[in-house]
Amino acid sequence: MARLPDAFIDDLLARTDIVEVINTRVPLKRKGKEYEARCPFHDERSPSFYVSPTKQFYHCFGCGAHGTAISFLMNYDRLEFLDAVDELAKRVGMEVPRENNPRSQQQQDDSRDQYSALDAASRFFQKQLEGNDKARAYLDSRGVDADTRARFSIGYAPDGYSALKDALGKDERRMKLLDRVGLFSKNDRGHVYDKFRDRVMFPIFDRRGRVIAFGGRVMQKDDGPKYLNSPETALFHKGRELYGLWQVRQANQKIERLIVVEGYMDVVSLFQFGVTQAVATLGTATTPDHAELLFRNAPDVYFCFDGDNAGRKAGWKALESVLPRMKDGRQAFFLFLPDGEDPDTIVRKEGAEAFDARLKQGTPLSQFFFDELSREINLGTLDGKARLAERARPMLAQIPDGAFGDLMKQELARLTGIGANNSVPASAAARPAARGNVMPVQKRSLVRAAIAILLQQPSLAMNLHGHHAIGGLRLPGIELLLELLQLVEQRPDISTGALLEHFNEREEQAALHKLAAIALPGDEASWGQELQDAINQLEKQLLQQRLDELQAKQRQQGLDEADKYELRELLKTRATLR
Ligand code: UTP
Ligand code: MN
Repeated sequence: MARLPDAFIDDLLARTDIVEVINTRVPLKRKGKEYEARCPFHDERSPSFYVSPTKQFYHCFGCGAHGTAISFLMNYDRLEFLDAVDELAKRVGMEVPRENNPRSQQQQDDSRDQYSALDAASRFFQKQLEGNDKARAYLDSRGVDADTRARFSIGYAPDGYSALKDALGKDERRMKLLDRVGLFSKNDRGHVYDKFRDRVMFPIFDRRGRVIAFGGRVMQKDDGPKYLNSPETALFHKGRELYGLWQVRQANQKIERLIVVEGYMDVVSLFQFGVTQAVATLGTATTPDHAELLFRNAPDVYFCFDGDNAGRKAGWKALESVLPRMKDGRQAFFLFLPDGEDPDTIVRKEGAEAFDARLKQGTPLSQFFFDELSREINLGTLDGKARLAERARPMLAQIPDGAFGDLMKQELARLTGIGANNSVPASAAARPAARGNVMPVQKRSLVRAAIAILLQQPSLAMNLHGHHAIGGLRLPGIELLLELLQLVEQRPDISTGALLEHFNEREEQAALHKLAAIALPGDEASWGQELQDAINQLEKQLLQQRLDELQAKQRQQGLDEADKYELRELLKTRATLR
């Protein structure tokens, strides 16, 4: 993904009013210094979704959703990062910089041409289907009706080696494009021919409804692989795409659930029978990117697999991908189908309602997790319990903080009698209550306190005295604190939201969001003082750290002249600090 300059993102967020952006989508009500609403990202009766105009970010105390205007659009309008940026830039009349080298414009033109080549190919295949009795008869025999064929733009790639090439590869430039988008194969002698021949074609759409690849199915056995998929291209990465997602979005105002199935025909048939929330991975396991995409679109995700061994394996793979994304408010279920059936055959035999009923009986993630891990383990023995705890712990550690993670750890404790982190099982009571929760700053470490204040009122950094010489201090979070100080020095007017955006995709981001959202006691003046105190305190600690080092060296190997000088100076400084 093209990276945009940080300064541009900062400016964009500075000119954008997050309250306006959200208010046009979710009506907000003023409450004190902030605005509130019922959270659009989970179901709730009373509002716990807050938007802060001063911090320029939003936070839900119910489900933990949070972010800037950019992430709001990504989550609410389901846009990609660059599209969300485009949208905001348009609102405030800013031009999005497209890397300043001249190649980039060319790249953009190039991808535009690739999209149109794919679109032309898709229309060509659809046209061919109309004229081909055999292919139409095949789709008839599979019970795919006209509406569904149109909705999924199903087509037919003619037999022979050059139907597409002859129709669309009119010149060198177009030949090159068709090749780039994966529609040709080449033999040993370099001869180029159609990749898809005599196959029923399923175009794969991206999230904006553009064709980016194809899957093609043979009509008789023994005609090569059953499904042939486009190769990975600049536009198509199969680990990041879900077949059918575009159609699901078209058909559903609000997507309550997504059903992940294995095949093209499963998605198509479910849709035809009225189950309009099915998507398929494209002949691959469920990747972390898939998991992210799924939950960005729906709170509940059902994974539907064959009941055989391979199906269970696929289910476990999916579980591994979703576990780190199980924020509160999200749910995953696993459904294993009877032998020899797939969603296509089941929905045709039993209908949509029966299929829904099966989904409702899907195994919740928690159960699938413990069932699978304790297979072949005898939980009646101490050994068995220890083994389960050992297997479960590292996986449970990946679950984001929240009630779900707590419950999973409790369940492990219940099954084994051992806590998930060797301590008392996390209890709901130990977790700070939701809204309005005032965390005494002193109770947190100095570094965390300083970071929290800095995040919430970045401009306070400008009033700090001294050089905050704290680099090199061996405390968790010091590097982060320094980074924040530096960011604010470069942009004294930066907002909380814009500051957080710098940590987009970095692992610190979640922790920073939490600190940005807690209610700090006191007022701005007291925060300024507290920040100054924390920095002073940290400087003292660094001094002490260095003193300790030098004194240890003195004991172990003796000091050279430079060391002795440094030691004297440090002792002098310390004396003045006292
Ligand atoms: P299946 O073999 O289970 O086929 O492959 P299916 O979906 O039931 O297809 P129909 O009903 O016979 O038409 C499941 C999925 O695995 C991928 C495809 O995405 C397919 O939809 N696959 C399968 C391939 O990519 N290549 C293959 O050769 C077979
Ligand atoms: Mn099938």
